[in-house]
Amino acid sequence: MDTNKRPDDMARITTPELAQAFIDEQIKDIREQVKDGKVLLALSGGVDSSVVAALLIKAIGKNLVCVHVNHGFLRKGEPEQVIEVFRNQMDANLIYVDAADRFIDKVAGVTDPEQKRHIIGEEFIKVFDEEASKLEGIHFLGQGTIYPDILESEKGIKAHHNVGGLPETMQMELVEPVKLLYKDEVRVVGKALGLPDNMVFRQPFPGPGLAVRCPGAITRDRLELVRESDAILREEFAKNGLEGKVWQYFTVVPDFKSTGIKDGERTFEYPVIIRAVNTTDAITATVEDVPFALLQHITKRITTEVNGVNRVLFDLTPKPSATIEYE
Ligand code: XMP
Repeated sequence: MDTNKRPDDMARITTPELAQAFIDEQIKDIREQVKDGKVLLALSGGVDSSVVAALLIKAIGKNLVCVHVNHGFLRKGEPEQVIEVFRNQMDANLIYVDAADRFIDKVAGVTDPEQKRHIIGEEFIKVFDEEASKLEGIHFLGQGTIYPDILESEKGIKAHHNVGGLPETMQMELVEPVKLLYKDEVRVVGKALGLPDNMVFRQPFPGPGLAVRCPGAITRDRLELVRESDAILREEFAKNGLEGKVWQYFTVVPDFKSTGIKDGERTFEYPVIIRAVNTTDAITATVEDVPFALLQHITKRITTEVNGVNRVLFDLTPKPSATIEYE
């Protein structure tokens, strides 16, 4: 039997009851597969790895070892939330690795977007591998592979990092409890597992994170401006009923400064670009019609609260001609 094929008669998980039945079955299957062995999991805090972590915690408790690598390009509050939810609330065995300086040093001066992505991806595996080699007796690797990852890999659309992307040296058996689920089903299961809504329903976020929203060579100051302005944008979208309605929204800080004026003094500071788009498949996207008054309010907040920004722009471009991200 091809275990990577979703059975034709598998019902779509749409209700808490169906999610619970799936959870019970997976707990049984995980225990059968792993027995009293240990499972290692890279926990990013994204929907898929968070749901896999919560399932594995239920099934094997402390025999799951979660590693959360903070590569320095996470959104404001993300690493803290992972620690709060998994270590404090679910009592998980969680290793938190603050590797921010290491990653930022590695990409210093790198302007090519593909090279940037490559360096971040490679460094991530290195850090994870280093943590894994400090642990003994781990024979299983948990992964948040979902069904679209398998389908896209099979069609050759993209070599998904969750499918066949393991470093050669990591000879571990995979544990992939949500690999036959679609994204909407993973969310229903996550909710049934008690994960917070802002984790279960969060917008897509690229693996290299804020690094691709800091076009050109990344500097610590611009990275901080992206993080702070993004936090304000998310807060205002949540307050104004746009969270969950708009597919993806974020800020970008380009690599140039412009002249402005603050408190009667000339300034020479960075702009912040706001992007807010809707799509179903991320292949094409339209721009959200954000109320002008809200844009003005967000502009006011960003230019007064984020030190080093004197201008806010709104990106009016659909995909195509632009992509959703800037790099
Ligand atoms: P683009 O910019 O290509 O983005 O229009 C389409 C969608 O993919 C997300 N994206 C990524 N996701 N790793 C990811 O996991 C990446 O390197 C990556 N690059 C783009 C992007 O956020 C958007 O939702």
